[in-house]
Amino acid sequence: MNRQIRKDLLGLEGMSAKEIGLILDTAVSFKEISERPVKKVPALRGKTVVNLFFEPSTRTRASFELAEKRLSADSVNISKAGSSVAKGESLRDTAENLEAMKIDVIVIRHGSAGAPHFLASLLDASVVNAGDGAHEHPTQGLLDIFTLREKLEDLKGRKITIIGDIAHSRVARSNIFGLVTLGARVTVCGPPTMIPPRINDLGVEVETNLRRAVEDADALNVLRIQLERQKVSLFPSLAEYANVYGINRERLAWLKPSCLIMHPGPMNRGVEISQDVADGDRAVILEQVTNGVAVRMAVLYLLCEGAQKEKAVEVDEMEEEKADSRTF
Ligand code: CP
Repeated sequence: MNRQIRKDLLGLEGMSAKEIGLILDTAVSFKEISERPVKKVPALRGKTVVNLFFEPSTRTRASFELAEKRLSADSVNISKAGSSVAKGESLRDTAENLEAMKIDVIVIRHGSAGAPHFLASLLDASVVNAGDGAHEHPTQGLLDIFTLREKLEDLKGRKITIIGDIAHSRVARSNIFGLVTLGARVTVCGPPTMIPPRINDLGVEVETNLRRAVEDADALNVLRIQLERQKVSLFPSLAEYANVYGINRERLAWLKPSCLIMHPGPMNRGVEISQDVADGDRAVILEQVTNGVAVRMAVLYLLCEGAQKEKAVEVDEMEEEKADSRTF
């Protein structure tokens, strides 16, 4: 994610295996910082990050804030309710006012797909997508892939099954883009009403039968049923969903003994995942959360480092121009 390649992290679509690898390798070195008694390094001292959250969040917001603090950046948190957006200010005015305060990065979560892209086109500051509508959630995709890489090492040829409301899931989309790029075999599974048409075009297999989807999988990524994003009911009831697609103790018998259970959170315990599976030996759900801080530290560090390098190049070019003008 060198600045010469991109200034923002908006999604995993189109990101190369090399770029993903750079972020994940950088995250490996940052993970250890969170194990130290003093969890802080000066890598982003003097940088300012604004966390702009227009939708609720526990994990992503806390994780970004901790990542910023552990890198010694100054951070500011803004949510819809406490900001002038609640008084009718536009997203554009909000962002331009923040940039006028000389910030370096905006982390944005927004209910509308494309909101981070809009800010990225307006601002010199780097923009990080922390989830935009049903479009992408790139840092969740990266932390899921980081966790899979820690457990499975090379992901080439590994079968990863994503189960649930694929049509409304930004987590599914970011996982699909990243995993397919890294050579994993991705299967998506859920009721036909939750599988978007032409999803195969993204390089995944579709399987509506849960048993067939999970047998021989190396990991399951179990998605939350997102009632808030469904405009019409896509299945008869939550109990029905749990009966047909829920991952519970009985269904663990269908899996390979080594199959990992992932969930991006927040979980609807008893719906897409049972209590005992969520808290069981195969679950790596809290490890995903731990890894999220390291991955977000890596993303922020690489974006700011890229910006710094670009400024250094600009200064060098200005010096060269000055020297040239003296020469002539
Ligand atoms: N996984 C995830 O995005 O969780 P939050 O909504 O709590 O940030």
